[in-house]
Amino acid sequence: MAIQKRILPSLMSADPLRLGAELDSLIEAGVRAVHVDILDGFFAPNLSSFSARSLEKIRKSYPHFFLDVHLMLVEPLDHLEAIIPWASRVTIHVESKGFEEASRRILSSGCELGIAIKPGTSLEILEGVVEGADSVTVMGVEPGFSGQAFIEGTVERVSQLKEMLKGIVIQVDGGMDEGTLLQCSIAGASEFVSGSTLFASEDRKKAFVALESIIQER
Ligand code: DX5
Ligand code: ZN
Repeated sequence: MAIQKRILPSLMSADPLRLGAELDSLIEAGVRAVHVDILDGFFAPNLSSFSARSLEKIRKSYPHFFLDVHLMLVEPLDHLEAIIPWASRVTIHVESKGFEEASRRILSSGCELGIAIKPGTSLEILEGVVEGADSVTVMGVEPGFSGQAFIEGTVERVSQLKEMLKGIVIQVDGGMDEGTLLQCSIAGASEFVSGSTLFASEDRKKAFVALESIIQER
């Protein structure tokens, strides 16, 4: 089956004081999948505004959302039990401690498994560890913050992964704007996480439809 291309808004860029209204505006815009970042302040130099409790609340209020949860945690294993019940997909970093055990735990839960890789980590590390995974997330920025500049070498990494791993969803997270989105789409990615670009627009629907149309064409 052909992989559907899609844009996933990253809630890191949403207004935390108006999260419900932000989520409603995404639904209104036609969004069906959102990206939620959870950070411990050690794996990457930032703390998240999201926790297992916020995932639970989002899941219960928006049962049809595909919740793509990106864990930037030194030891994800410690938190899986609290997170898995609310997530559609849990993405862990290949650089994190206990990565293989955490992968097995996610797979056996029936939740989708995503594997993320930092910009400086060699792609070879993914050989042999992606079996059973649903997606690989190529970071387009160093993990941690929204609004950072896209690292150009990411496009080449997407092309290489496309060759290395057949039939897996390639997601790009970080630095996605109209131009970088198009480059990554042509290189073979099918999911694009958008934080600052999408949320900068007052008209969410217009912005989402414009980004979607770029990836659906190429
Ligand atoms: C960064 C996060 C991203 C972030 C992307 O570490 O993983 O999901 O929200 O934000 P933009 O699209 O602004 O680069
Ligand atoms: Zn992310």
